[in-house]
Amino acid sequence: MAKIAIMGFGTVGSGVLEVLETNKISIAEKCSDTITVKYILDIRDFSEDPHHELFTKNFEDILNDEEVSVVVETMGGLHPSYDFTKRLLLKGKHVVTSNKELVAAYGAELLQIAREKDINYMFEASVGGGIPIIRPLNSCLAANEITEIVGILNGTTNYILTEMFESGKEFSVALKDAQDKGYAEKNPAADVEGHDACRKIAILSSLVFGKRVDYTKINTDGITDITLTDVKYAEAYGSVIKLIGRAKIENDRVFASVEPTMLKTSHSLAGIKDVFNGILVKGNAIGDVMFYGRGAGKLPTASAVVADVIDCVRNLDRNNHYFWEEVDTDFVVPYDQNTAKFLVRIAGSYKEQKDRICNLFGETEVLQIKEGEFGIMTSEMTVADLKEKMKQVSAIKKIKFID
Ligand code: HSE
Repeated sequence: MAKIAIMGFGTVGSGVLEVLETNKISIAEKCSDTITVKYILDIRDFSEDPHHELFTKNFEDILNDEEVSVVVETMGGLHPSYDFTKRLLLKGKHVVTSNKELVAAYGAELLQIAREKDINYMFEASVGGGIPIIRPLNSCLAANEITEIVGILNGTTNYILTEMFESGKEFSVALKDAQDKGYAEKNPAADVEGHDACRKIAILSSLVFGKRVDYTKINTDGITDITLTDVKYAEAYGSVIKLIGRAKIENDRVFASVEPTMLKTSHSLAGIKDVFNGILVKGNAIGDVMFYGRGAGKLPTASAVVADVIDCVRNLDRNNHYFWEEVDTDFVVPYDQNTAKFLVRIAGSYKEQKDRICNLFGETEVLQIKEGEFGIMTSEMTVADLKEKMKQVSAIKKIKFID
């Protein structure tokens, strides 16, 4: 019998217990062993909970119990989850997590400890909720050199943008709607400012490129500034706007960003709506592969955690080679050196500024969507170059464009 502990009994932690109980028999068949929860660590009071006898407030109970071989960390945040995870791994216990913040920040170190101890640190649920993505990248696509990952990695923002495009709602109205439906938190900053998607693209790219992609070096713009005027421009260009996390490797350096991006409606990520996530992976042997599904939610995310627990129980004495190394040098290319096409909104009249616009941007397609401004589509240029040109006109904003 495999004994496990759950640290953090919030939405995902309680979902893990639910999945383990609901699917007890089939899970036991899959691991040729039963999985029993011996402890649940949470500082809150659960004396009325039907599982109250499992609760402890003392981490040492779990750390020092030789019977516990796998620990689920669904506490979130960096502290004390980092300290707890490190001590558990050093003690030889497998750890499974949904904590993207911790994996993005300390993954390299924690994976190194797991490797040295011949155990596992697993994090399928940290990206894409219930969508299998970590394991496929590490196993099924292992024969490929992955060159690029492009994804809609945050369900809340995808829901908001879908509502803005399909129902003509302002950002604030669509956000309120997302909160009422339970998608967005009361404090929605991590989602709408892009930090959640940033951690996720950092984890995916670290895994496939084998070196830590430092999330603090990834330019991250959220969707809080996207307006219905931007929606109209995008529509006029036959496009939608999505919050896109992207990482591409070239000459052993990574170009990575999280930003609202205009995608042609024919792009394979453009049709991904509502709270769904879509992740497009480009491999040198397989070409393009798409992963699609619900990127959040109690049971989808818990099912990914439990799948990792099952893997640990099946491989108690074997490391699964999830790994990326810490790097000293700048692996992530500064954002200013990224190249793309951009929609630029410029205040004033195009007629009066035509010569300057042509000198700066060449011949461009011009769109008049709103009184007192116009939009142009640039050719491919670096962000640094674009910023310099934008200083020379009354630029309102830029939005990246992928066709
Ligand atoms: N808040 C995230 C989302 C789910 O909306 O996609 C957890 O990563």
